[in-house]
Amino acid sequence: MATIQQDRDALERLIDKSSNIVFFGGAGVSTESGIPDFRSKDGLYHQKYLYDPEIILSHAFFEKYPAEFYRFYRDKMLVLDKKPNPCHYYLAELEKKGKLKAIVTQNIDGLHQMAGSKNVLELHGSIHRNHCLSCYHFFDAGFVKNAPDIVPHCPYCGGIIKPDVVLYGEQIDDRSVVFTAKALLDADLLIICGTSLQVYPAATLLKLYNKKDIVYINSDPKSTYDRASLVIHHKAGVLFGGMKA
Ligand code: APR
Ligand code: ZN
Repeated sequence: MATIQQDRDALERLIDKSSNIVFFGGAGVSTESGIPDFRSKDGLYHQKYLYDPEIILSHAFFEKYPAEFYRFYRDKMLVLDKKPNPCHYYLAELEKKGKLKAIVTQNIDGLHQMAGSKNVLELHGSIHRNHCLSCYHFFDAGFVKNAPDIVPHCPYCGGIIKPDVVLYGEQIDDRSVVFTAKALLDADLLIICGTSLQVYPAATLLKLYNKKDIVYINSDPKSTYDRASLVIHHKAGVLFGGMKA
């Protein structure tokens, strides 16, 4: 197995020769910021709840049991005290240098934007965008966090406020898909990081990238991606923390 410095050198050689990089990330990008992922052994989907978390995070469940949904959501997803880690900051620097054209993330935590990244395509939405289901009024995450009732209600019309996060059974926002497709078609380097690629259509969108160089970064030594030209088994924050954009 290559040392972390050998991996960094190999990654930097690919980044140096690329001018149109797309970074495709998942929950593993934020675990070093203190946000658990879903499918690792200590991830959300392995923790015991009354209902299966993938049931709780579904449109049907939200409609039927909004209080139960919000109990889980407030406990596990509405995290406002977490900070970006070196992976987020490295990517923001790479974007400033004009080499990173887009971050496509499955995360809803907003940490890429907090680190300074501008072009972030949030395939699964964001905890920072919330709307009243009746009058469509916008509310930020702080309003939802501080609402007096477990299910936040709109002060203008009394309607239920729902986070703009894509629940199971809901469509991914068309614009994010179109912009992701365009970014992948234009890219000359694809970096896939911190995702198990279990969820569609996120994983299928990657097939639109048809150039040679693909980097797959995952801290699980058993996790790999057969299309990758470089596989790195290190934690994203540690890996990028030792690199200069
Ligand atoms: N550095 C690199 N990889 C990491 C790190 C880290 N610090 N921490 C965890 N990982 C890896 C894990 O080994 C795992 O393979 O990141 C991956 C995270 O996979 P998942 O938990 O399945 O998360 P993700 O792929 O983002 O899930 C996609 O599934 O349930 C839905 O909407 C949810 O957006 C989520 C989607
Ligand atoms: Zn309203």
